Amino acid sequence: MIIAIDGPAASGKGTLAKRLAAHYGLRHLDTGVIYRAVGKAMLDAGADLTDEARAAEVARTLDPARFDDPALKSQAAGEAASVVSAHPRVRAALVEFQQSFAATPPGAVLDGRDIGTVICPDAEVKIFVVASAEVRAHRRFLEAQSRGEPADEAVILADILKRDERDQNRSAAPLKQAPDAVLLDNSYLDIEGGVRAAIDIVEAVRAGRRRV
Ligand code: DC
Repeated sequence: MIIAIDGPAASGKGTLAKRLAAHYGLRHLDTGVIYRAVGKAMLDAGADLTDEARAAEVARTLDPARFDDPALKSQAAGEAASVVSAHPRVRAALVEFQQSFAATPPGAVLDGRDIGTVICPDAEVKIFVVASAEVRAHRRFLEAQSRGEPADEAVILADILKRDERDQNRSAAPLKQAPDAVLLDNSYLDIEGGVRAAIDIVEAVRAGRRRV
């Protein structure tokens, strides 16, 4: 089984994807880390993020063994990822890796922006996770606080809105709900509530009880 989870930054889709993968015994791929790895490598090299040819070369030579580098979680890597991920040649270079990950038995849960629309258009279950920008900013603020990092909620909210705008309006594989994806509004659910709602959706779709 392949489950596609898409949604905007900090919607909670990553946690849901991880928990669904554990629940169904599937592999999990957070595709954001791939774009973050490209963005961070460009920053480390002092390269211009708008240099599409260079970013595509970085994308072609990525080492997946380094996708668990904690530095990829930084705000700077996320911002850089949002810029480099708008380049069509960067996206093209990463399609095969994602599709072959998804196709490897026993199947996988992939979370990102274009999984249900571009990477796995035939996924059995597609969930589009949303949460209000204010709720997402508040969650990011609490996360930063818990790591002991200084954080300003208004600045985080502005960053989230800027990232949404870029991810939704780029011409290459923009963030959007696939026509056959089920919408899950995660604004007022805690983690356990979100996981239960996501499992309910998977079960309903597999049983043919739910179609969109
Ligand atoms: O989900 P995230 O914050 O780790 O993603 C970082 C950036 O990477 C996001 O702003 C857009 C880009 N991205 C993408 O374009 N396609 C994906 N499948 C995943 C992430």
